[in-house]
Amino acid sequence: MRIPPSWQGKLRLPVIVSPMFLISGPDLVVESCNAGVVGTFPALNQRTTQGYADWLDEIEGRRASPGAPFGVNLVVHRSNPRLEADLAVTIDRKVPLVITSLGLNRDLIKAVHGYGGVVFHDVTNLRFAAKAAEADVDGLIAVTYGAGGHAGPWSPFAALHELRGIFEGTLLLGGAVSSGAHIAAARLMGADMVYMGTRFMATAQSMAVERQRRMLIAAKSADIVYTPAVSGVHGNFLRASLTEAGRDPDDLTPPSKLDFGATDAKAWRDLWAAGQGVGSIEDMPDVAELVDRLDADYRRASATL
Ligand SMILES: Cc1cc2nc3c(=O)[nH]c(=O)nc-3n(C[C@H](O)[C@H](O)[C@H](O)COP(=O)(O)O)c2cc1C
Repeated sequence: MRIPPSWQGKLRLPVIVSPMFLISGPDLVVESCNAGVVGTFPALNQRTTQGYADWLDEIEGRRASPGAPFGVNLVVHRSNPRLEADLAVTIDRKVPLVITSLGLNRDLIKAVHGYGGVVFHDVTNLRFAAKAAEADVDGLIAVTYGAGGHAGPWSPFAALHELRGIFEGTLLLGGAVSSGAHIAAARLMGADMVYMGTRFMATAQSMAVERQRRMLIAAKSADIVYTPAVSGVHGNFLRASLTEAGRDPDDLTPPSKLDFGATDAKAWRDLWAAGQGVGSIEDMPDVAELVDRLDADYRRASATL
């Protein structure tokens, strides 16, 4: 397993709990790290850079030591006016992992390496992946078919094979990973770690609202719609949330300008991202309980193989 050298011995499972807009906060991050998996959140989940800094301080204060590392997601897109200020705070607090999405920034990568942090970049196709590999990222996250939120229309088998051909660093697989057996399968397919969002959205420590929780439990994979209509980039959403918000889930018209929540969180507040893994969600355990289950299942599945 290729993981960053500074993470050796700190992980119970090769899992990153992926950053989720309006869903991941200090509780989810701290409980994930304390359970032995990497916890993350998007900087934009706080409305100001000062609020973001406060969360980082809270997480540092509450995290058990030694625990798993934690990370933040920075949206590297010109629609994000906070990137520069949030990056300055990230550097000041020496956040161990920075996950970049929707754009690549070489200065950011250099700056994070400068304080000993690592940068993982999420990709939905090989072209973007090749650019990121050249830019010296430490990890590539293949966000494949069925992943919650923005997702690529590519098969996990094809993605991992092609990525391993061009990249020596840590490879992660995201997209409907829901059980310990799935983690074992991902490793067998060539991933070093997995990236899990939707399954952790259905935990006591996420910021999901009650209606969203009920929808997650009720939904099956067929209730997920893949559409560019929410942000302008193709992603997976709960069909019922679009219908309840008065939208036609089959209308594929993207918004007039790209919207990733940096300037307007409203769309994301009512239209709920979720991946095809919803079909495996039956309850809302504590993160610690979920990680226990994943661990037992991972060991059982690995032994069977
Ligand atoms: C509700 C929700 C919000 C998300 N918000 C973000 C985000 O702000 N930034 C980001 O990089 N990815 C975001 N994602 C994508 C996840 O980080 C990750 O790629 C995805 O959850 C993995 O697939 P899975 O949900 O099937 O496990 C979001 C996903 C969900 C379900």
